[in-house]
Amino acid sequence: MMGYRLGFLMVLSVLVLAYATPKNHNLPVLSFDEGYSHLFGDDNLMILKDGKTVHTSLSERSGAGFVSQDLYLHGFFSASIKLPADYTAGVVVAFYMSNGDMFQTNHDELDFEFLGNIRGKEWRIQTNIYGNGSTSIGREERYGLWFDPSEDFHQYSVQWTENFIIFYVDDVPIREIKRTESMGGDFPSKPMSLYATIWDGSTWATNGGKYKVNYKYAPYVAEFSDLILHGCAVDPIELSTKKCDTTGAGDSLNAFNIQTGITLEERSKMLHFRKQHLQYSYCYDRVRYLTPPSECVIERDEAEQLRGFDPVTFGRGRHHHGKRHHRSRTKANTL
Ligand SMILES: *[C@@H]1O[C@H](CO)[C@@H](O)[C@H](O)[C@H]1NC(C)=O
Repeated sequence: MMGYRLGFLMVLSVLVLAYATPKNHNLPVLSFDEGYSHLFGDDNLMILKDGKTVHTSLSERSGAGFVSQDLYLHGFFSASIKLPADYTAGVVVAFYMSNGDMFQTNHDELDFEFLGNIRGKEWRIQTNIYGNGSTSIGREERYGLWFDPSEDFHQYSVQWTENFIIFYVDDVPIREIKRTESMGGDFPSKPMSLYATIWDGSTWATNGGKYKVNYKYAPYVAEFSDLILHGCAVDPIELSTKKCDTTGAGDSLNAFNIQTGITLEERSKMLHFRKQHLQYSYCYDRVRYLTPPSECVIERDEAEQLRGFDPVTFGRGRHHHGKRHHRSRTKANTL
């Protein structure tokens, strides 16, 4: 029966085509109940009347978080986020994908993390990936932004395919990670859930833990809306492909995108962003990595640019994102 094999290959090529399109326009926005579940924080997680906007808050009692109902293997994942204003030192907001609750020793992860700051200083944003339990090698980058993320909603997205990962802020690609052979399993390759959390990162988040969360200003509220989960949902038990949402993937399927992930125009936007706003990259951190990890491409200009920023401290066990959460997974109903 050639059907099975051929079918499988066709599914694979559809996936590669579908998720090689960075355009997030016209992708379906899910209501909270359609796509997500409450993870922790009780009343600190609040779904507004529209069913699509979620407030997560950090108070002295708890942070809060939610998680996608499904696991996904590749796709485009996005949220519009408005961060809390004023004094937010020690506050961490994370928008990330992980399978840490299913694969405790060899999990995959890709992260957006937002690190609060003292009044008058800007939020910082950080991206990172882990693959197959590569927690001993953090691949963090840190950036400033060209706007105040507590003033308005902005869209933070990640496109994850078999061969590359692109992080976007609004329409600007800020980081591209290509899978290289030498990375081996360090490139995320197993199905992951999408999470959004807010929590207390006092021990490390702001100037290496110098400035802590001050609960005088609590609750700290991070607002999420326009939640997009556009990928291939996977059965949590069998880890086989269940259903792929390919709507909206139609017109931008061109060979150029497939090979490079981003267009020339987007690449030039990305380089411009990085020249202006990149503040830290693991590739240049000689304290952590005497020899940079193999995928690093060292550029003299970039090294020069990053020399001006303070060394960065990273929290231990940050991949738990404030709370060790285990969900019991039940087999999804067969369609
Ligand atoms: C992932 O890690 C396991 C051990 O934890 C190893 O057996 C496996 O080969 C690794 N996979 C990849 C793709 O590197």
